[in-house]
Amino acid sequence: MEKNRSTFSGKLGFVLAAAGSAVGLGNIWRFPYLAAKYGGGIFLLVYILLVLTFGFSLVVAEIAIGRKTGLSAVGAFNKLCKKFTFLGYFVTVIPVIILSYYSVIGGWVIKYVSVYLLGETQAAATGGYFGSFISGSAQPLIFFAIFFALTALVVLLGVQKGIERVSKIMMPVLIALSAFIAIYGCTIDGAWEGVIYYLKPDISNFSVMTVISAMGQLFYSLSIAMGIMITYGSYMKKDINIESAVHQIEIFDTGIAFLAGLMVIPAVFALSGPENLGKGPGLMFETLPMIFAQMKGGRIIGGVFFLLVFFAAITSSISLMEAVVSVFEDKFGWSRKTSCFAVLVIVAAFGIPSALGYGVLGNFTLLGMDFLSFLDFLTNSVMMPIAAILTCIFICYVIKPKTIYEEVESSGKFRSKKLFTVMLYSAPALLLVILVYSILEAFKIIQV
Ligand code: PHE
Repeated sequence: MEKNRSTFSGKLGFVLAAAGSAVGLGNIWRFPYLAAKYGGGIFLLVYILLVLTFGFSLVVAEIAIGRKTGLSAVGAFNKLCKKFTFLGYFVTVIPVIILSYYSVIGGWVIKYVSVYLLGETQAAATGGYFGSFISGSAQPLIFFAIFFALTALVVLLGVQKGIERVSKIMMPVLIALSAFIAIYGCTIDGAWEGVIYYLKPDISNFSVMTVISAMGQLFYSLSIAMGIMITYGSYMKKDINIESAVHQIEIFDTGIAFLAGLMVIPAVFALSGPENLGKGPGLMFETLPMIFAQMKGGRIIGGVFFLLVFFAAITSSISLMEAVVSVFEDKFGWSRKTSCFAVLVIVAAFGIPSALGYGVLGNFTLLGMDFLSFLDFLTNSVMMPIAAILTCIFICYVIKPKTIYEEVESSGKFRSKKLFTVMLYSAPALLLVILVYSILEAFKIIQV
């Protein structure tokens, strides 16, 4: 499979495929609740600065490594330096953990599609609706299973192309609909305060958690530090300009996250009150139904919206699963079926406790977090920073930045070469500080 890689037809094809992986629940579900909780405008500012500097550099590096070697993570690190093969395996563990709780949230999205199909528009807007849904046992498990089964089916049948074609049409519709919902939400009485909270950086809302969570979100949202962009790079044609492709992916990805924040945060102020900003993972599922309940045609708009979110989510979960399945196939020589089955076992092991963590397993916490939040913390705040530190060290001191320059310059001028170099050399120290802080915070050794 690795010899004759099929390639994306052109730059647009590449950008859209990478954006399909990047744009997902991270943008629509995760970004707004983090922005709401960790400082609003100041979070947004820190996030954008990090995307343009550090995020940019790491995406360029990963894509270049992939394109240079023509291999996915394990093979790529192995080919460049045998001693670093372990890093390839390490980054492959991350997507499988993410996939398990991603499927739980994906299940919540399907549940909300069904809410609007069944016409429960008003009921869903009441306070306890979401809470009683996730604290149940049967429903969260069933919807989790449906989401994962659909993902697995697509990967098993190898019909990604079809899904990607559909999602190419869906994506612009999702953007337009989100913009409409955001505008509607911002005009509700009392929303203006929220618009200001979201758009105006206020330094008094800044905390170390702002940087920690923005950094974790950046990895998650851009699908970096988990080998996925390396795999995408390996499918990229040699004559495509890496730098400008990365800029386009970033604009796409950050633009949609920004819009999602604008959809959720002002509505929190208008409809449920700023004391709910710290709600966490349930924020979007509690806030948006309140908007839909107020809208004329809210049932249809709500249903279509969650359906589009579902499409954005499944293109991401497919890329998560594909990344793991292809490593199993390449490295263990397993068939696609066996590989999918192995992923199923792992996803069930982590996903079932995640789905039940707000109900029957509510008393089972790790470091004070429910299971889903713990997995999210483990991958985003611990494993990905470690992967990113090692990747930077690998490039700076093992293969040398020159290797990346050459790959980027083979298809045009590398305009941000200086920025790239500075970021790569300075990032490990910054990431190490973040890593230590977030671990100390999790163990409640410090309060930030
Ligand atoms: N970036 C995706 C999102 O924002 C999640 C994802 C992570 C997808 C890693 C693929 C790989 O939802």
